[in-house]
Amino acid sequence: MERTLVLIKPDGVCKALVGEVIQRIEEEGFKIVALKMIRLDEEKAKEFYHSHKGKHFFPGLIKFMLTAPSIALVVEGKGVVKQIRKIIGERTPEEAAPEAIRGRYASDGRRNIVHGSDSPISAKREIGCLFHPEELYSYDKEDWLKSEPG
Ligand code: TYD
Ligand code: MG
Repeated sequence: MERTLVLIKPDGVCKALVGEVIQRIEEEGFKIVALKMIRLDEEKAKEFYHSHKGKHFFPGLIKFMLTAPSIALVVEGKGVVKQIRKIIGERTPEEAAPEAIRGRYASDGRRNIVHGSDSPISAKREIGCLFHPEELYSYDKEDWLKSEPG
């Protein structure tokens, strides 16, 4: 099953948009496989965004990512990488569709609320950067909804 990495950035956490982002993900029928709040340090932030190293916006991006905690999620489902990118929207509030998360809430092209992996290969790398394999839940192990708790 396809997985993606979603990161609610410091602005999304501080603007209390965690619930709304998660609601949009769950409404699409995707499953949350892992979730945690993490305060990125400089080393982790640079590792996470390593593909942008050397670009003009890199120092500012790293500085921003250290300003408050982020919420990291691993999300699973058919076509999840592409669909989550659609829900999030283009990078800037001007480019993003008005109903997309960034279209509605981003302050600018840096403070844009949420990250989503851009391909299954990126997702694999980003999940490995922020999670240990044992932190990921496997829904096929048990069909909880069909079991009778108690
Ligand atoms: P990018 O991969 O282009 O966008 P996306 O988040 O949609 O995959 O850039 C990664 C992040 O880097 C972006 O979300 C915010 C930051 N960034 C800037 O701060 N300024 C910029 O000019 C660009 C291109 C990105
Ligand atoms: Mg990107």
